[in-house]
Amino acid sequence: MPTNVMSFESQPPIGRVMSVDTMRVFVHIDDHELLKKVMVGNLIAIQGATGHQFLISIVERITRLPSDTLIEALDPADETAPQPDGMQDIRAVLVGTYRVKDGDSGPSFKRGADSCPQIDQACHLIQGPNLTAFMGVLTQDVPSDKALRLGHFAIDPNAEAIADGDRFFQRHAAILGSTGSGKSYTVASLLERANTLSHPNLLVFDMHGEYASLAKDQDNGYADYFKVAGPGDLSSPKPHSLFLPYWLLNREEMLSMLLDRSDDNAPNQAMRFTGLVFEAKRAELEKQGLKEVLASFTVDSPIPYALKTVKDGLIEDDQAMVPGSAGRDKQGPWYGKLTRFISRLDAKTADRRYGFLFQPPAETSSYAWLQDLAVKFLSTKNDNKPGIKIIDFSEVPPDILPTVVSVFARILYDVQFWMQRSLARRYASFAMRPTFICQLGQMPMPRLRGRSTLSSGSQRKVGSTVSPFWS
Ligand SMILES: Nc1ncnc2c1ncn2[C@@H]1O[C@H](COP(=O)(O)OP(=O)(O)O)[C@@H](O)[C@H]1O
Ligand SMILES: [Mg+2]
Repeated sequence: MPTNVMSFESQPPIGRVMSVDTMRVFVHIDDHELLKKVMVGNLIAIQGATGHQFLISIVERITRLPSDTLIEALDPADETAPQPDGMQDIRAVLVGTYRVKDGDSGPSFKRGADSCPQIDQACHLIQGPNLTAFMGVLTQDVPSDKALRLGHFAIDPNAEAIADGDRFFQRHAAILGSTGSGKSYTVASLLERANTLSHPNLLVFDMHGEYASLAKDQDNGYADYFKVAGPGDLSSPKPHSLFLPYWLLNREEMLSMLLDRSDDNAPNQAMRFTGLVFEAKRAELEKQGLKEVLASFTVDSPIPYALKTVKDGLIEDDQAMVPGSAGRDKQGPWYGKLTRFISRLDAKTADRRYGFLFQPPAETSSYAWLQDLAVKFLSTKNDNKPGIKIIDFSEVPPDILPTVVSVFARILYDVQFWMQRSLARRYASFAMRPTFICQLGQMPMPRLRGRSTLSSGSQRKVGSTVSPFWS
């Protein structure tokens, strides 16, 4: 359908360019009645250098004073200050360039002003059929299978707001507002619309379990639903229960949970724990004969290992005596230094709230399980439509929520990145990065002695992945 072209021939200008800087334009309005028609947020078309070109700007401020200097001279608190009649202007910010004709094709709009407006150029309010025509240009190039129908423009209820779903979800975006302003509602409505796209690939990190009603098994639900296992799910996990075993955590993430940095022995504890984890991972790889991995793994590599082996090693070191002088034993280098760390490890691993990390079912201790997990989140069985996945974190204890969210995002990112080529042959959606939708409000990044608990590397990685929305 050809898009209508904006035309201002039958409509007198509302004003003329009075002053310009690189971003903003001040429009002088002669007619008091015309000024009353303009609202903040309206669009103004300013005649460009040629008859075919208009510079588009958004009204930021409407005033009946001639200049900023006069405003400054008046006391803003004094409502009785004289308001000079007949001197009125609009301040608008330049956003783009509209061409009535672009080469041989029809109208076009691009961001950025091709040139700055010239003094005295005519300015038109974009309204009615012109507004609909303009909004039509914004959406004309979006292919129908990628058209994310967002709703209608507040300034023109007749014009549909359509974004390019592909481009929208592959960029970073934020939804900001005070409590109750409708952020969660907006996210839910975006998800519903995204679900009508041909290839939505979205992971929603749901901190409060507020999107559980979008699960497929609910009325009108359409999303795959997973929930990080709570204390009640440990003995009999449900099909949607999600475990994130401790072996997925890197050294810093484990230490952020287990180490008390105010303990005098914290550096010793961190060092010994790291050494034992490395040994436990090596033993596991040797047992499985994974020579290639053995040559390149680090303490941070996600390799299933037995935490019990690490704990036994800590206890042994904590109690070990070594031969001293005169045939008498003396205390070993770690003697008594690991006791408090062992108690913390015991407390954490026994706490059922942390069960999804430390008491996962046996089948989670394998690479095959990790691949299944990735396939679950990054593809679908028939792979036509990866779809929308809700991950409910509502039962994760708040103190470890940032770590858990970042581990989960990092694992998916790494698997997707490293296995992209091999898995993409089988699952087309592995070739496409998913979009992560997350809530920032309840997620302060914990800091330990001025340092974030997460390494800057993992924050950077996750930052580039977990981005788009914070609801
Ligand atoms: N566009 C809307 N239309 C109708 N009701 C809305 C809309 N946006 C929000 N609400 C309602 O307002 C209330 C608060 O919205 P919510 O999305 O929970 O806010 P937030 O997440 O910003 O705290 C909810 O009851 C929601 O149903
Ligand atoms: Mg909310």
